[in-house]
Amino acid sequence: MPTPVIIDCDPGHDDVFALWLAAGNPEIDLRAVTTVSGNGYLKYTTLNARIALSVAGVEGIPVSAGAAAPLQRELTPADWIHGENALGGPELPTPTVPEDPRTAVQLIADTLKASDEPVTLIPTGPLTNIATFLMAHPELRDKIKEIIWMGGSTGRGNVGAYPEFNAWVDPEAADYVVRSGIPLTMVGLNISHQALITEEVIQRIGAIGNTTGAFGVELLRFFCNSYNEVEGMLEGPLHDPITVAIAIDRAVATVQRAHVDVETKGAFTSGATCIDLHDMLGKEKNVDVAITLDVDRFWSLIVDAVTALD
Ligand code: BDR
Ligand code: CA
Repeated sequence: MPTPVIIDCDPGHDDVFALWLAAGNPEIDLRAVTTVSGNGYLKYTTLNARIALSVAGVEGIPVSAGAAAPLQRELTPADWIHGENALGGPELPTPTVPEDPRTAVQLIADTLKASDEPVTLIPTGPLTNIATFLMAHPELRDKIKEIIWMGGSTGRGNVGAYPEFNAWVDPEAADYVVRSGIPLTMVGLNISHQALITEEVIQRIGAIGNTTGAFGVELLRFFCNSYNEVEGMLEGPLHDPITVAIAIDRAVATVQRAHVDVETKGAFTSGATCIDLHDMLGKEKNVDVAITLDVDRFWSLIVDAVTALD
């Protein structure tokens, strides 16, 4: 049976590939998509999620908008990587997929209630919606199988010396989710920087010859160009779909169980994930931290999913 999944995202170039991987892989049953402000303001991330599904011909999955701002802070969108509309590069079509009038929290609640089996939550942006949902619906916790989140880092960050963007945008939400006790796998920069978008990868996706692949190539070229300009990297890292790849096949990544705290107050480190890989603190190990990616398997999953779409 395919794994039932809700993706909570802030598309964002790599979020789009997470959506496509979930929609195009037979092991995943994508039940709902919710959006959060992060890479761009909510109006853009919601529109972009609808565009991502529309381009790929994925109809019938509800898409609802969530939080317009982090729990306690102002949003700083990642326009330096993703562009002002959070999806720079291709000309964006008017989506055929509509916006569901429910809030993200309501859609998550409805989807969990309607499911016979526990559902996997896959957030690929700041954790504002997930934390808000957990606060509002404690009675539905048992309907969540696990959370697989792209965020954090075992090492250095990408918005400062230590914090990673998704954790940094809403550290209070990340702290809440990490301490919630719900099984959590963290896909941080330490593993996502193994998913480098090589020229060979771009050629493989272009060679598929469908609409999704052509749109995807334009996304990847813009994204790599941003990484080149901002971080001096020729090959950008395709962070977000690693979460979905893990939901498809745990063997795609090794994990190490460790105690994780999210820094919410640091003068220089707000939003940093403090990951006690060497068990120096002797505290409860609360997170499966993804460490090493099977890079070939990961890209094969992406290529196969894009092939299966329009
Ligand atoms: C994360 O931040 C965003 O730019 C990406 O979509 C990814 O979710 C990487 O730090
Ligand atoms: Ca994202």
